[in-house]
Amino acid sequence: MNLKRSAAVAAIIALGAIPILTSSCHKDHNNPPATMTFYDTLGGTATVNDPAHPGTMIEKGRLGLRTVVDSAIFIIAGDKEINGYFTVLLSEVGQGNLSGFQALSKNLTDFLCVATGAKDFSYTGKNMTDAHNPAANSRISMKVAADDFDQFVVDVAASAKKNGLTDAMIARVGALLNSLKTTVVQQ
Ligand code: HEM
Repeated sequence: MNLKRSAAVAAIIALGAIPILTSSCHKDHNNPPATMTFYDTLGGTATVNDPAHPGTMIEKGRLGLRTVVDSAIFIIAGDKEINGYFTVLLSEVGQGNLSGFQALSKNLTDFLCVATGAKDFSYTGKNMTDAHNPAANSRISMKVAADDFDQFVVDVAASAKKNGLTDAMIARVGALLNSLKTTVVQQ
C-alpha cells in the first residue's frame, strides 16, 4: 500500500469534518432546514447558459459537476501514475477523435449527478464493476490497483479545487468516490 496516497485521500475527506461538526452544533430542531442534497449545494436545478453550448441552458449543479469531470479527465490524462489505464482514450484523442472523451464526460457527469441527488438525469453507462473490468470494458487497459484508485481521487480533488469547490464540498466528493473503492478496485 502506498501510504502517501492513502494519507492524501484521508486528508481530503477530513477537510469536510470540521464544518460538518460545527454546523451540527447549531441545529434548530423546531425549524429544520429543508433537506438539501449535495447536488443542491453545487447549484441544483437552477438553469444557466451552458458555456460549452451557446443558446442552451444547463442545470447549475450539472454544470459544476461536468466542469470538475472534464478538467479531471485532463489532469488524469497527464498523470503518468495512472494514465496507463486510459490508453484507448489517449490514443483516440491523439488522433483528434473526441467521441470517447465526450462519451466518458457524459457518463461520468450523469453518474455523479445521480450519485449527488439530481432528479433530472439518469446514468446509462456500465455498472461500476463492469466499467472497471477489462474483460467487460475494452476501454480500460487493466484492473485498477488500490494505490491508483487513491491517486484518481487526489486528481479529482485537484480538479475540484481548481474549479472553486470549497474544502467541504471537495471532502464530500472524495468521500463519495471512496465509498466505491471496493467495487472499482478488482485486484
Ligand atoms: C469512484 C471512482 C470512479 C468512478 C465513479 C468511475 C466512473 C466511471 C464511469 C462512469 C465510466 C464510464 C463507464 C462506461 O463507459 O459505461 C468509467 C470508465 C473508466 N474508468 Fe472509472 N471510475 C472511477 C475510478 C476509476 C479509477 C480509479 C480508474 C483508474 C485509475 C478508472 C479508470 C477508468 C477507465 C480507463 C475507464 C474507461 C474510459 C474510457 O471510456 O475511455 N476509473 N469510470
